[in-house]
Amino acid sequence: MTKSEETNQRASGRVETYSPPPWAKDAHTPSFAEYQKRWQESINDPEKFWGKLASELVWDKDYDKVLEWNRPFAKWFTGGKLNASVQCLDKFQDTETFDKTALIWIGEPGERREITYRQLHEEVNQFAAGLKELGYQKGDRVAIYLPMIPELVVATLACARIGAIHTVIFAGFSADSIRDRVEDSGATLVITSDGAWRRGSKILLKNIVDDALGQIDSVKNVVVVQRNTENLEEFTHSMTPDRDTYYTKVISTGPATCEPESMDSEDPLFILYTSGTTGKPKGIYHTHAGYLLGTMISTREVFDLKSNDVFWCTADVGWITGHSYIIYGPMQNGVTQVMYEGAPNFPNPDRFWEIVAAEKVSIFYTAPTAIRAFMKWGDNWPQKHDLSSLRLLGTVGEPINPEAWRWYHKTIGAERCPIVDTWWQTETGTISLTPLPGATTTKPGSATFPFYGIDAVILDEAGEELQTGQGLLAIRKPWPAMMRGIWGDEQRYRDTYWSKWGGKYYFPGDGAFRDDDGYFWIVGRVDDVVNTSGHRIGTAELESAFVEHETVTEAAVIGIPHEIKGEGLVGFVTLRDGNEPSEELAVELRAWIGEKIGSFAKPERVIFAADLPKTRSGKIMRRLLRDVATGKALGDVTTLADPGVMNELREQYQDD
Ligand code: WT7
Repeated sequence: MTKSEETNQRASGRVETYSPPPWAKDAHTPSFAEYQKRWQESINDPEKFWGKLASELVWDKDYDKVLEWNRPFAKWFTGGKLNASVQCLDKFQDTETFDKTALIWIGEPGERREITYRQLHEEVNQFAAGLKELGYQKGDRVAIYLPMIPELVVATLACARIGAIHTVIFAGFSADSIRDRVEDSGATLVITSDGAWRRGSKILLKNIVDDALGQIDSVKNVVVVQRNTENLEEFTHSMTPDRDTYYTKVISTGPATCEPESMDSEDPLFILYTSGTTGKPKGIYHTHAGYLLGTMISTREVFDLKSNDVFWCTADVGWITGHSYIIYGPMQNGVTQVMYEGAPNFPNPDRFWEIVAAEKVSIFYTAPTAIRAFMKWGDNWPQKHDLSSLRLLGTVGEPINPEAWRWYHKTIGAERCPIVDTWWQTETGTISLTPLPGATTTKPGSATFPFYGIDAVILDEAGEELQTGQGLLAIRKPWPAMMRGIWGDEQRYRDTYWSKWGGKYYFPGDGAFRDDDGYFWIVGRVDDVVNTSGHRIGTAELESAFVEHETVTEAAVIGIPHEIKGEGLVGFVTLRDGNEPSEELAVELRAWIGEKIGSFAKPERVIFAADLPKTRSGKIMRRLLRDVATGKALGDVTTLADPGVMNELREQYQDD
């Protein structure tokens, strides 16, 4: 099928369908009728629906009210008290689950560790007690900059245990990005490691942290995990006296147990930074009770978790997917999980399939960009392995093209495993549009229907609800795991998410349509946010990084279709007088973005432009840049301040 045929097919929603598997009758939601009934209940009477489920949380003190909705601010389970680490660990104390494997951890160089819930509980207690000895307590902010190692899970849950607010910073971020996040959150403690392995290379994380903290004195302590306990010298680093301590020391100095702090339902649990349409990332924050309930229930329903499942979510804990579907969701369900440190193609492109076969993974959750990379690497890699343990597949992060969906279904799932295409965001906290494996007939490329409690609609610009056809995705009612705000910036929360339709709807920033069967299809972001390899990047953030370079006076960044990454970034750059465009400068500028933000944000191309196309009011016309970059015919340029700019740009782009 050609690309345009595929696009047309997707745009009409007319594709072949896939029925639920034979085991549907044993699923948590066993039929579509059952889904519809429960969904209707969750929308008609959210307090009753979630109130019933909330009895599954362990409460120190009962809540008074399920929901207080003071648009756009929701409070769930007000007056209640509980602790997140208790839901993930202590809850299992007198059950078989306590001695079950919680994590099968695999390091990129090949180490393997099995850690039970009991062992995790022990280490979380010790680390939490050690953090208290260091003087940290409820309400403090703690930045965690760790690779995918078990200590990342321990650190996160230890913060939750003492009521400190964690802000996990993806270990691919640069020193500058760490500094922004530490400053904005007011973190006083940073937990990091000396290093990590990535695609066979050492990454010296502690050095990056030292760089970041150079000019910040609000950080009192840095706790350092030594990645290789066999060879402590492996990752070169230095320790700043009176500030830096080793993780092993912190673990051993405090008492062996630490009473969990009783947290209010609405106390913040974590802050997670995500990109928006300005140069400054937003600190999305989530609170305890609603988030915990939402992640517990959605993990169970969407992935149909059973006690003998081996669950593997390939995301990094540094993104929301890892928060919700590695830590809080799966652990509250007491499931066994695979946690892998490294790259999917190291040492070979079958590393994932080797792990699936060896660990008998039954539920596998990954991103479209990874699926497309696997497709490209060839079928022989997965075919070398016995993948028959798999029973359910998931995808998240960006719209999945039907071609990749079908490949996933056939080559990985052997046409036996249903696929859950889950749409959600850092802000929604939990999966929000998704098939339920026992209930939903799927269509490749569609996230199908709203999850329980999600009152999703499609609106046009004016706020008219559309039953079918294309518009903007919106959510009408609050749900338990929704964000509670942007850290330190209430106005930005109102403006970004609630201002579009007079405060009546939550606006996620995605374009979407509903087909004639009522299926939701996500088209992609409608704002200046680019989704590259499933990572969300605000173009404004890149633009401000570009102009910080001494040679650059102005920059415009756009996303263009990319075969593997979904979208790739292209930077159009205007140089200061006295600087000449050159191949070397383009290379330097790409590296600069890597340093300023992180290498995942490096643009595919840098294009030097004598001038950028602008409207008369001075707004950069990105649509035109996109046309240039994708080789499309120029649209209407009559509103351009200087229409000649476009022809010049096009010539330059073709010269490249
Ligand atoms: C944006 C949120 C949620 C975890 C990963 C990303 C896009 C996410 C899908 C999907 C189509 C999707 C949206 C959304 N997105 N999942 N299944 N189909 N688009 O979290 O960084 O907060 O990004 O990712 O555009 O708004 P995030």
